[in-house]
Amino acid sequence: MASSSNLFLLAALLALTSWQAIAYDPSPLQDFCVADMKSPVRVNGFPCKDPMAVTPDDFFNDARIIGQPRDTTKSKVGSNVTNVNVINFPGLNTLGISLARIDYGPLGVNTPHIHPRATELLTVLEGTLYLGFVTSNPNRLFSKVVKKGDVFVFPKAMIHFQMNLAHDKPAAALSSLSSQNPGVITIANAVFGSDPRISDDVLARAFQVEKKLIDWLQSQFWENNNY
Ligand SMILES: *[C@@H]1O[C@H](CO)[C@@H](O)[C@H](O)[C@H]1NC(C)=O
Repeated sequence: MASSSNLFLLAALLALTSWQAIAYDPSPLQDFCVADMKSPVRVNGFPCKDPMAVTPDDFFNDARIIGQPRDTTKSKVGSNVTNVNVINFPGLNTLGISLARIDYGPLGVNTPHIHPRATELLTVLEGTLYLGFVTSNPNRLFSKVVKKGDVFVFPKAMIHFQMNLAHDKPAAALSSLSSQNPGVITIANAVFGSDPRISDDVLARAFQVEKKLIDWLQSQFWENNNY
């Protein structure tokens, strides 16, 4: 009896660990695998550069990338996201981690979006933010006002957002993400600005509004503040 319940426990544990293995970036099979961005080989992630050709700079990202405020005045939504992920930091390949700096102008918004492959841990560097995430259906909102030094976590693949509450000064945050390549789906852009556009018959039904409102939304320029 005891051994069969142990077996059950083992099976449950195995099921749990194999689920995690597919739900998050895979574990590395070597100390590091600096991405060789020029390789024509296609794998899940990027192939490794020859380890003998790897240098300290492969594990380094200059302060100019993430260590200073970005211009938020050109963005329609008043924010600017700077990513440090495997695309511009090949040393992160296979390591399951990346960073983003978010700058907000006065009342600037990092609009509702999803990272399909990462949980995000946000630390406020400067200012006061209203932020939150919405769960899977039936869509509970967990929101909060946070200030400098506070930390908030957005669980993987949940729709989330932040807004600078100050009318007169900028804010900034630094986020760690649990994937080398978290991906971004900006909700408004994906729904109204896809290429080509989704049929307005579909969106008029989905949003329960007249088609001309959808047509107007679809004719706008959907700029992205985050790639
Ligand atoms: C973000 O800031 C950089 C540098 O400050 C600027 O070149 C870029 O245009 C800005 N992006 C947006 C979307 O405003």
